[in-house]
Amino acid sequence: MAESDSLAETRAGGNGHALFPATSVCVVGLGYIGLPTASILAGKGYQVSGVDVREDVVETVNRGEIHIEEPDLDVLVKAVVAGNRLKAIREPQPADIFIICVPTPFTADRRPDLSYVEKASRAIQPHVKPGNLIILESTSPPRTTEDVVAKYAIPDGLTPGIDVFVAHCPERVLPGRILIEAVENDRVVGGLTPACTRKARDFYQSFVTGEVLTTTAVAAELTKLVENSFRDVNIAFANELSILCDKFGVDAWEIIDLANRHPRVNILSPGPGVGGHCISVDPWFLVDAAPESTPLIRTAREVNEGKPKHVVKKVLELSARFKDPVIGCLGLTYKADVDDLRESPSLDITRELLRSSVGEVLACDPLISPEQFSEFPLHSLDEVLKRATLVVLLTDHRQFREISPTVLHEKVVVDTRGIWRCR
Ligand SMILES: NC(=O)c1ccc[n+]([C@@H]2O[C@H](COP(=O)([O-])OP(=O)(O)OC[C@H]3O[C@@H](n4cnc5c(N)ncnc54)[C@H](O)[C@@H]3O)[C@@H](O)[C@H]2O)c1
Repeated sequence: MAESDSLAETRAGGNGHALFPATSVCVVGLGYIGLPTASILAGKGYQVSGVDVREDVVETVNRGEIHIEEPDLDVLVKAVVAGNRLKAIREPQPADIFIICVPTPFTADRRPDLSYVEKASRAIQPHVKPGNLIILESTSPPRTTEDVVAKYAIPDGLTPGIDVFVAHCPERVLPGRILIEAVENDRVVGGLTPACTRKARDFYQSFVTGEVLTTTAVAAELTKLVENSFRDVNIAFANELSILCDKFGVDAWEIIDLANRHPRVNILSPGPGVGGHCISVDPWFLVDAAPESTPLIRTAREVNEGKPKHVVKKVLELSARFKDPVIGCLGLTYKADVDDLRESPSLDITRELLRSSVGEVLACDPLISPEQFSEFPLHSLDEVLKRATLVVLLTDHRQFREISPTVLHEKVVVDTRGIWRCR
C-alpha cells in the first residue's frame, strides 16, 4: 500500500497550514500525558478512544471526570465526553492513529523498564491496519521505537514506512501547564523512515501551534533524554556547590547570586535533591545505553542522589543541640505546588529522619490529602510551626513561602530551597 491512504476527513491544522486526513485516534495510557493528549485531540474534532488498564480510570473518565490534578483538564474532559468525542475503554480498538503514553520507569538497579511499552504495543497489534500511524510519546531509551514498538505493534507482513508508519514524539510539558504546553511547545518528531516522519509531522501540525521539528526516531529519543540530562547535570553543579558551601559555613545562595553577576555565568538553585519521574529517571536511560560514554551524566545523578543524605546528616547534627528535638519537615512532594510524590527527595529525607529516632518528627504537606497518603501521619502547618524546635524546609509550596519570618525567629531552620534567606 502506498503512503497515501483512504482516511477520509480533512482537518484544519493548529498552525494554520497543516491538514491531516484522519478521523480516529486511540490513546493508550490515560495518565498525566495520555488524558490531556486524548482530550485535546477530541477537542480538535478527532474521534478518540482512550485506553487504560485501570478500571477506575476508565470509569472516572467516562463519567466526564478526572483522576489527576491538572488545571482546566476537568472542564475539557467533561465537554469532550459529553460530546461523545472521547470514550475510555480497557482494551485498544481499531483507529487511524495509535499514541502510546504509558509509563517508562526504571528498575531497582536503574535499568529502563520497557515492559509497559511492550505490553501496550502488543495490545494494539491485532488492531493495526495498513495506513495506520503509531506514535510513541513515552520518554524512552534510544531505539525503543524500533526495537519495541515496531517489533511488537506491527502485524506480520506489514512494512514500516510503506504499509504502516511509526514515529517517536517525546512530551516536554510541565505539569500544571500541560493543556497549554502540549499545544504551544515546539515538538520533535522522528520516524523510523522519512515517510513515517512526514506522516507524524502532519498529524502534530494538525493540533500543535508550536513548530514541529523533524528528525529520526533515535534522534528524537536522544533529544528528550539529553534535555533532562542537561537539567540534571546543571542542578548537580548547584547541589555540589551547596555541600561545599556548608563545609565552609557560607550561604550557597549568596555565592550563586554573586557568581551569577558574571555576564556568562548562570548557576541554578540547589535543593534537597532532584525528584519527579523525569529528570531523576531519564539520565539513567542514557547511562544504561552507553555507560562508557556517560561518566558526567552518571556522576551528576550520583551527586543529586547523594544530596538528601547530606540534608539528613545536617539535620541530625543540628538536632544534637536539643535534649528533645521536635523536627518539622515542611513539604513531601518533589516540587512546589504539586501533589506528586514520585521520586521525591523531600519524602526520602522525611522517611530517613523518622527512621533515625532522632526525636519527634512532624511531617506536613498541605498538597497531600490523607486519602492519598497513609505511610505516616501528616500534621497541620499550624501545629508544626507551634511545636517544632527545628524546621526543615523541603518543598517550597506557596503556604511555606508565605510564613512570616517572626514565626521562625526562635527556631533552628534548615532551608534546603533558599526561600527564607534575606528575611
Ligand atoms: N507527566 C509528565 O509531566 C511527563 C512529561 C514528559 C514525559 N512524560 C513521559 O510520558 C510517559 C507517561 O507518563 P505519565 O506521567 O502520563 O504516566 P502516568 O503514570 O500518569 O500514566 C500512565 C497510564 O498508563 C496506564 N497504563 C499502563 N500500562 C498500560 C497499558 N498496557 N495499556 C493501557 N494503559 C496502561 C496506567 O494505568 C496509567 O494510567 C512516561 O514515559 C513519562 O516519562 C511524562
